[in-house]
Amino acid sequence: MKINNCYLLNFRNFNNLNIRFFDKINVITGGNAQGKTNILEGVYFSAKGKSFKSVKESDLIKIDKRESFIRTDVESDGLEEKIELKLSKDSSKVIRINENKVDTMQELRTFFDIVTFIPEDIKIIKESKSYRRDFIDEVIIGLLPGYNSLLIKYNNILNQRNYILKYKKQGRYFKEQIRASTKQLAQEGAKIMRMRSKYIGIIEEYAIEIHKRLTSEKEIISLDYNGKSKDYDYDIIKNSQVLYSQLEENLDRDLNLGFTSVGPHRDDISIFVNDMDSRIFLSQGQQRTLTLSLKLSQIKLYDDFKEVSPVILLDDVFSELDRERTNYLLNSIKDYQSIITSTDESFLQDYTDEYRVFELMDNELKVKKFR
Ligand SMILES: Nc1ncnc2c1ncn2[C@@H]1O[C@H](COP(=O)(O)OP(=O)(O)OP(=O)(O)O)[C@@H](O)[C@H]1O
Ligand SMILES: [Mg+2]
Repeated sequence: MKINNCYLLNFRNFNNLNIRFFDKINVITGGNAQGKTNILEGVYFSAKGKSFKSVKESDLIKIDKRESFIRTDVESDGLEEKIELKLSKDSSKVIRINENKVDTMQELRTFFDIVTFIPEDIKIIKESKSYRRDFIDEVIIGLLPGYNSLLIKYNNILNQRNYILKYKKQGRYFKEQIRASTKQLAQEGAKIMRMRSKYIGIIEEYAIEIHKRLTSEKEIISLDYNGKSKDYDYDIIKNSQVLYSQLEENLDRDLNLGFTSVGPHRDDISIFVNDMDSRIFLSQGQQRTLTLSLKLSQIKLYDDFKEVSPVILLDDVFSELDRERTNYLLNSIKDYQSIITSTDESFLQDYTDEYRVFELMDNELKVKKFR
């Protein structure tokens, strides 16, 4: 898959900007605060219907405007498709694919794949386990779009169960209601756990090899799922019974808390490097390299299992990587379309394949160099 064109209107600092992208490496250079990251955010927004920053949607609209519009033309297998998003300070956003209104962001999210390597991604290593769950889920959704529906279904049941725990505990039908939702939650939860268990194992296999290369064989990664080894032959029926019992055992506590305290929404995924928990023991540079290994594993996994290749977004990452890692990263992405931001293009000095460099200045984007 590739992006042919992206048009931004009243988006962030841009009045209007049209970018024709090249098939391979696109480098957007420019001084600080010119809007380089904003371009990536616009492209990402087209793919996911949300920002990669934790911001309010209305913050994406140009500060003095009420509405913003993004149009992205993507091409897959020679077929061009058009994604349009309209953001408004007064109403909810509208998404259209080829002129047809799309009701759920879910539909958009499974439409085209983006892999990011942006400063925020280090949260996968540094912050709470929800970031690691989200990363694993994102990888699985990229491979199996149906997994997204499973997550949505699970969350709906979870919200229902939490509502019963909080507001219906005095009710006449409490026992029946809670039993029914516990059963459903255990059934769907076991399916999620099976997928996570399997794919954490697969991601680990990929990440071990890539990380060894990036660290001259010095660091061995391992991924831990709820303190257990990965289980490829996960038995859904057996495990939904196990989850059901756990939910039952915790019912009194959950009634006090007013929410469900066990289940895959609480799953614990830890990443170890040479048997040390990466969240606690690694240096900043090691954490960054580890993030890179995970992202490269995601790309390699898509490459091996999917027909459609992802578009890669890299925000200002080369300033923090040494020459060897820079070249390794560039070589890993050279067959894909990528959009890279950087204050300058010096990181390309050893790179011999095709690329295009743009310069962004005063809201204008000019092609500066290509080969
Ligand atoms: N909603 C908005 N309306 C107008 N301007 C905005 C809005 N949101 C952000 N900006 C401005 O956009 C500018 C460019 O931001 P961006 O993060 O894209 O810069 P950058 O080129 O990536 O810079 P750096 O090299 O420092 O990372 C910032 O000065 C910011 O204040
Ligand atoms: Mg930036």
